[in-house]
Order: sequence, then C-alpha cells, then structure tokens
Amino acid sequence: MRIIMLGPPGAGKGTQAVKLAERLGVPHISTGDILRHEVAKKTKLGQAAHKYMAAGKLVPDDLVIEMTLKRLKAPDARKGFILDGYPRTLPQAQALDKAAKIDAVVNLFLDPEDLVKRSTGRWVCPNCDAVYHVLTNPPAKRGVCDKCGSALVQREDDTEKVVRARIRTYDDLTEPLAAHYRAKGILRDVYASGHIEEVHQRILEALRK
Ligand code: AP5
Repeated sequence: MRIIMLGPPGAGKGTQAVKLAERLGVPHISTGDILRHEVAKKTKLGQAAHKYMAAGKLVPDDLVIEMTLKRLKAPDARKGFILDGYPRTLPQAQALDKAAKIDAVVNLFLDPEDLVKRSTGRWVCPNCDAVYHVLTNPPAKRGVCDKCGSALVQREDDTEKVVRARIRTYDDLTEPLAAHYRAKGILRDVYASGHIEEVHQRILEALRK
C-alpha cells in the first residue's frame, strides 16, 4: 500500500502514520522528521530549510521534491509506504504522480482550536521521532521517551504564534490538494477527533471503502 496522510498541523498525521505503518509493515516517511534531522545536523539542506520551518512557512519545492523522491527510491519503500507531510503543494503532488502510484490519501480534519491545543502540548523525541502530548498521550516517565529513553523536547515551531502561521500556510497551499486527490477517487476524509485508537479504527474503515 502507498498511502499519503494529508491534514493540518497537529491533526495527528504522524501519530496515525506510525500505527498504520506498523500494521501494514511499510515504512513511515515523514518529511518533517527528515528535515528536522537535517537541521539538527546542520547540513546544507538543513541550513536552507531552517528559516522557513521556524517561521511556519513551507520549505521550497525543489529542495523537498528532490529529498522525498530520493527517500522513496530506498529499498524499504519498494513494498509501499505511509507518506506523512508530503505533498504540500501542487508541484509536489505532480512530481509524486510521476514517481509513484498512490493507493489512498487519508485526509484528517479537526477543529482549528483543537489543532492549536494538540501542537502546543506536544513533546517529541529528537532521537527516534516518537510523539507525545502532555495531556492526551504522555510518556510513562515525564520528559523521557518510552521507546529509546532520550530526553523529550518541544519543537521550535510549536509555539502558538507559529502553529497559527502553519495552519494558515496549510489552508492556503495544502488544503487545495484534497481536490486533486478527490478527482482521482482516492481521497478518504477522516474526522480526527477522539482517542488515538478510535481515529485509527476510523482510518482502517475508510481504507476498506
Ligand atoms: P511537519 O513535521 O510535517 O509538521 P505538520 O504537518 O505541521 O504536522 P505536525 O507534525 O505538526 O502534526 P501531525 O498532524 O503529524 O500531528 P501529531 O501526530 O504530531 O512539518 C514541519 C515543517 O517542515 C513544516 O512547517 C515545513 O516548514 C516543513 N515541511 C515538512 N514537509 C514539507 C513539505 N512537503 N514541503 C515543504 N515544507 C515541508 O499529533 C499532534 C499532537 O497531538 C501530539 O502531541 C500527539 O500526541 C497528539 N495527538 C495525536 N492524535 C491525537 C488524538 N487522537 N487525541 C489526542 N491527542 C492526539
């Protein structure tokens, strides 16, 4: 299965992508995670991307398209993938159309104020990319990753101001992609409110259609 997770910041794309990837035995490919590692390593790509990410803007298409298509060519992605955070613009979608046949696009939607609450309460593991929420999905030990034991951090772009900027960026540039995939008959709208497991079951149900 080749699946795209679409949806605004904080809707739960990453959380659900991890569960789906485990269930289907395919890699979870998050362009946000890849870019954050490039920023942390201060690579050329990371240095070019950082100012856009910190401001809640999109990293330029040419950089992201090259990075993502290269990742999709890796051997582990041959059997399928869950793509999280890509595409975000029409040129990115068109580049992907040429590179791979997508089976389904899960389009998560949620009230904007819930998006803000989810993002500003998020803590992430800078080592293994596990995602937690201070209230709804806390780690067993405060500030420590359940999976690898690293110290959790808050993302630089998870302040309320930047989250609201990211939601605006999404509404202007990414939300229109839903129409692109609806026209292909592969869009599956899923309401992202409720417990993580409840949303996961809704996604599985939507993928059966
Ligand atoms: P990226 O990392 O992709 O961020 P995003 O799309 O803004 O999405 P988020 O990671 O914020 O949210 P999510 O939907 O994955 O939610 P999560 O599961 O974490 O991108 C970051 C930046 O990189 C972009 O702004 C851009 O600059 C750049 N970038 C990346 N890709 C790009 C591209 N293709 N082109 C150009 N630029 C690109 O959940 C959120 C929180 O809610 C967590 O705390 C979680 O524990 C909690 N939660 C999840 N589900 C539930 C639930 N059901 N109930 C309660 N809490 C829940």
